[in-house]
Amino acid sequence: MIGAGSSGIAAVKALQERGFAFDCFEASDRVGGNWVFKNRNGMSSSYRSLHINTSRERMEYSDFPMPASYPDFPHHTHIAAYFDAYVDHFGLRDRITFETLVTRADRRPGGGWEVSTDKGETRAYDALIVANGHHWDPRWPEPAFPGHDRFAGVQLHSHHYTGEDPDLFRDRAVVVLGMGNSAMDIAVEASFVARRTYLAARRGAWVIPKYLFGRPLDTIPTSARVPYALRRRVQSAALKLVVGDMERYGLPKPDHPFGSAHPTVSDDILSRIAHGEITPKPNIAELTERTVRFADGSDVEAEVVVYCTGYKVTFPFLDPDLISAPDNDLPLFRRVFHPDIPDIYFVGLLQPIGAIMPLAELQSTWICDHLAGRYVLPPPAAMRADMEAERRAMFKRYVASKRHTMQVDFEDYVLATGRERARGAKRAAAAA
Ligand SMILES: Cc1cc2nc3c(=O)[nH]c(=O)nc-3n(C[C@H](O)[C@H](O)[C@H](O)COP(=O)(O)OP(=O)(O)OC[C@H]3O[C@@H](n4cnc5c(N)ncnc54)[C@H](O)[C@@H]3O)c2cc1C
Ligand SMILES: NC(=O)c1ccc[n+]([C@@H]2O[C@H](COP(=O)([O-])OP(=O)(O)OC[C@H]3O[C@@H](n4cnc5c(N)ncnc54)[C@H](OP(=O)(O)O)[C@@H]3O)[C@@H](O)[C@H]2O)c1
Repeated sequence: MIGAGSSGIAAVKALQERGFAFDCFEASDRVGGNWVFKNRNGMSSSYRSLHINTSRERMEYSDFPMPASYPDFPHHTHIAAYFDAYVDHFGLRDRITFETLVTRADRRPGGGWEVSTDKGETRAYDALIVANGHHWDPRWPEPAFPGHDRFAGVQLHSHHYTGEDPDLFRDRAVVVLGMGNSAMDIAVEASFVARRTYLAARRGAWVIPKYLFGRPLDTIPTSARVPYALRRRVQSAALKLVVGDMERYGLPKPDHPFGSAHPTVSDDILSRIAHGEITPKPNIAELTERTVRFADGSDVEAEVVVYCTGYKVTFPFLDPDLISAPDNDLPLFRRVFHPDIPDIYFVGLLQPIGAIMPLAELQSTWICDHLAGRYVLPPPAAMRADMEAERRAMFKRYVASKRHTMQVDFEDYVLATGRERARGAKRAAAAA
């Protein structure tokens, strides 16, 4: 197993409870991955002020609630402490080999894997579980904006933003690029100390509040049994009622219906724009030594540009000819199983509307069923047809973007997985 972030520890628990022999290699000295601020693995994208934007109820594992003293949207320190507590509560810590980076995982010709670490060791395994996270390898604008090499100010990616340098934004003109959650948080933060803050975007987004009708929005019950089109209509109407049109705030009108992009959640951005503390702008067109010019021809003086342009899905330890995710796209059966390589599994490699953790938990027990022969995959042709149908639906619904390559709806994924596991259990019984 590779990785003991929130996805990896769910897999460690499932494997341990079911008595599998396994190793879990974790590059850091701690569990929690992204949620360990300034994680010594260099892979955390957390910043000092980060709070979760999926509610605690949505994020917690099924058998380990977050403490009742936690707020609805806890700080990253709470979240990291929760993962630590999970590992200790279930006695998992000793099952993780810390401070050990997997440098290579090579598939043996007859199946199985040889896994090499930075400790100079290589060991053989029957199967490989990959839980290395997908929000740590920064994706800078591609291609870089003309003039980026002439710009005299600071350019950084949100991955490198920690919120710790009090002078980074102070009294400076700051351009924040992107309409995802990193851009919302960082633009708001900059706006309290910067001389001017601009929020540049190549397309608009529907900005969703954390609360609706007095409760965390993602705890308002929805059902996968209700057709998606109807759910979307109801949610869209509620948003329209509570927030209104994005253009009214000076933001670009989204070029897609509500629900066709990964949710942008912020209670603060619209208010900061409404107060005149953040100025919306279209995409960056060019940088000069001291200015940023935008796609509408306007330009502003700027001393800092923060690229909140998302992440690349990468597996530095795998042979890219065997497995890679060009443009973040790695087709998998139900985001877990590789259609051609039966002894590799992925945990947490999905982008849910809802939190990743309970889904990683569900994927982990599913993998154990497959390892134990209690779940049998569909025949290859059926698996491929299923993947194709799933991908067609996803690409049809979502705006074409490298951030929309592994989207799932939480409830739908849980329901569909349950059904598929039942079918696979029947196949296993028939094969026995
Ligand atoms: C700023 C930010 C905020 C977010 N907020 C939310 C949120 O509110 N709710 C939500 O559901 N999701 C959120 N996410 C998504 C985030 O991906 C998940 O919260 C979560 O971190 C996923 O856990 P993971 O274990 O899959 O990956 P990670 O947390 O990235 O953990 C991966 C682990 O694998 C280890 N690892 C990687 N490569 C190797 C290797 N070669 N050898 C050994 N170990 C290795 C790393 O050291 C790390 O510990 C956020 C993401 C970001 C960037
Ligand atoms: N508070 C929180 O809990 C929190 C905070 C931060 C991040 N997160 C999570 O972390 C993950 C990553 O979020 P993120 O905001 O860092 O990345 P993201 O969701 O991938 O968003 C990237 C943004 O950058 C834009 N972009 C990408 N390339 C561009 C280019 N070349 N030129 C102009 N714009 C470009 C994208 O536009 P397009 O849509 O057009 O591609 C999108 O608006 C998400 O799961 C998010 O929910 C959570």
